[in-house]
Amino acid sequence: MRKQIAAANWKMNKSLSEGKDLLAEILNSDLSIGQNQEVIFAVPFPYLMETQSMIGGKSGMFISAQNCHHKTAGAYTGEVSVDMLSSIGIQYCIIGHSERREYFAETNSMLLEKVNLCLAKNITPIFCCGEPLQIRESGTQNEYVAVQLNESLFQLDADQIQKIVIAYEPIWAIGTGKTATAEQAQEMHAHLRNVLSARYGMEIASKISILYGGSVKGNNASELFSQPDVDGGLVGGASLIASEFVQIINALKK
Ligand code: 13P
Repeated sequence: MRKQIAAANWKMNKSLSEGKDLLAEILNSDLSIGQNQEVIFAVPFPYLMETQSMIGGKSGMFISAQNCHHKTAGAYTGEVSVDMLSSIGIQYCIIGHSERREYFAETNSMLLEKVNLCLAKNITPIFCCGEPLQIRESGTQNEYVAVQLNESLFQLDADQIQKIVIAYEPIWAIGTGKTATAEQAQEMHAHLRNVLSARYGMEIASKISILYGGSVKGNNASELFSQPDVDGGLVGGASLIASEFVQIINALKK
């Protein structure tokens, strides 16, 4: 079975001590993390190494950056390179979150550069796609997300694409409490897998984990994750509450 993943995206939240308390509470909880399951913590840059020392080596647990720069090095004050992440042993990086696309003008071609840099350093991109509300209302969401994949991922070869995790995050469901229904999520995830299959074949497409993100909570995770093409979640708000995130981890498909 494909990897089933619960990924916490803390975004720009928590002080270091609050973050450590949250992590400690999660780690001390009754977690069931199976063979094909992973839990990933995408924490703010200044907490990466501390988080690593708290969870480093725990089976099935990994640390992710929330972003990286699209150039290798140089005069980019305030930015963090993929080489830097690699040098401290980071295994995952979120690429193309809608908040980065919207507030920091990240384009599909910049994201392509980020994906290439990550793969070259063995960092797994968690590549985000998803449509805004007006696109959903116009009924063109399938075409919209296909373009996002096409322009940022489809230059990858068959080996490389299998190293990507995709997160479908409809923008209208992020932080709004308005979750996509399990049917809407399944429909889009199946579409994304078909788009991947049209480019790489179904054998490869069926190996790629596609996470759902957008108001995933403890009480809706099981229904979402039970859908055949939903391979876990990328979780914002609910990942900041230990009991919620534990419930989400334990809702992953076995
Ligand atoms: P919420 O879970 O807060 O809706 O955020 C989703 C998200 O953007 C995760 O990356």
